[in-house]
Amino acid sequence: MAEAKKLYIKTYGCQMNVYDSERMAEAMGGAGYVETDSPDDADMILLNTCHIREKAAEKVYSELGRLRSLKDGNPDLKIGVAGCVAQAEGEEIMRRQPLVDLVVGPQSYHRLPQMEARTRSGEKALDTDFPLDDKFESLKSRGPKARRGPTAFLTVQEGCDKFCAFCVVPYTRGAEASRPAARILDEARELVDRGVREITLLGQNVNAYHGTGPDGADWSLARLIHALDGIDGLARIRFTTSHPNDMSDDLIEAHGTCEKLMPYLHLPVQSGSDRILKRMNRKHTAESYLRLIERIRAARPDILMSGDFIVGFPEETEADFQATLDLIEEVKYGYAFSFKYSTRPGTPAAEREQLAEDVKSDRLQRLQARITHHQRAAQDSMVGRRVGVLFEKPGRFDGQMVGKSDYLHAVHVDDCALSPGDLAEVEITASGPNSLAGRLTGTAAR
Ligand code: SAH
Ligand code: SF4
Ligand code: F3S
Repeated sequence: MAEAKKLYIKTYGCQMNVYDSERMAEAMGGAGYVETDSPDDADMILLNTCHIREKAAEKVYSELGRLRSLKDGNPDLKIGVAGCVAQAEGEEIMRRQPLVDLVVGPQSYHRLPQMEARTRSGEKALDTDFPLDDKFESLKSRGPKARRGPTAFLTVQEGCDKFCAFCVVPYTRGAEASRPAARILDEARELVDRGVREITLLGQNVNAYHGTGPDGADWSLARLIHALDGIDGLARIRFTTSHPNDMSDDLIEAHGTCEKLMPYLHLPVQSGSDRILKRMNRKHTAESYLRLIERIRAARPDILMSGDFIVGFPEETEADFQATLDLIEEVKYGYAFSFKYSTRPGTPAAEREQLAEDVKSDRLQRLQARITHHQRAAQDSMVGRRVGVLFEKPGRFDGQMVGKSDYLHAVHVDDCALSPGDLAEVEITASGPNSLAGRLTGTAAR
């Protein structure tokens, strides 16, 4: 048998890229490749890229520059660019970087093995189509199924029809599309058979999920979650990322009725100013967002909210920014991600007058100080409480295990006889800089 070729994948960007990289590795397994964790001995290097902010996109070109010496040393090495930069700037990449052999957009991954074969015969291969065939169906690995860790991502929906004025995703991922529920349920069962206990359902607008159910009916995300709830061995369900306008009644209700659905919700708002929200084309107001959170908290009072914020969007005044700070004080996020607005070519906001960089930096710093304050408070408030923890791996010290609480906080327990995949009730005893410490209160469930 020929020796397996080695594939090195470097993943940037969001969780969906992580999921896609796993699928690409599986698909390339069928073409004789095994994954390696070093680029040095690889026969093929694939950069799975992100285009969301300028910095993210620039990383691709600097990484390609670094790969030049590897290619010089090994002319048989094939270099590919996948992901959202590939979709947005595929032809430019080919032009600017002659060392790139292959460019594949996020909707064409199932064609990767054929594309790789073309590069082996000396051709360049570029595919940034949005074909209608079911990518995931063709990406399914047919080989033996390796054991997995206790947590996994599962893409259920892809693409976005929202067209927020700052965002590239509708252009790089295409229109909203949902996978059929039966395929998702099959994949979830297979993951559970391979050792997975927690599944995070992924979608650019995951709560816009509308897939065909096994009964032929149109299933909402809530319906899908209730069906996943029935899978034996699956202990936890999460989903991300949601848009406020797609937070339907049945999904809010699921947070109160579905025990496996974890009390954590990532619900980006971007700004607390209605004037800016309108210019961002978000199609909701600060008030409607706050009322929505009230309803979610009525269904699940202990839910931990997380969000995304952009500061320094064109025309944002100090008063607009203050409205964002006010919203943060009201919601008291347990986590939040915040970014300086980054001009993205081809998006409507790129045409508008931009704010000065120092104004953006100053606002980001002030916003992050408030977020950190609430994040700390939420983490500290866990001390004395009993929470479920899914253990993922050994910690730094002998006998220590680390995992994630129901609320997604990192938790470590010392001197325990636990294994990855164990789920146990833990009493939180201390809150450290980045994680919580706890002690077991009962026996672990497998
Ligand atoms: N589909 C998700 C995630 C989109 S990207 C959603 O709708 O929330 C993740 C985050 O990146 C966004 O929520 C936004 O806060 C940020 N982001 C997107 N475009 C950006 C830009 N041009 N500049 C700065 N941040 C941006
Ligand atoms: Fe981007 Fe807005 Fe779509 Fe989210 S909802 S992916 S921020 S366009
Ligand atoms: Fe980045 Fe594309 Fe994800 S732009 S955030 S990798 S959808």
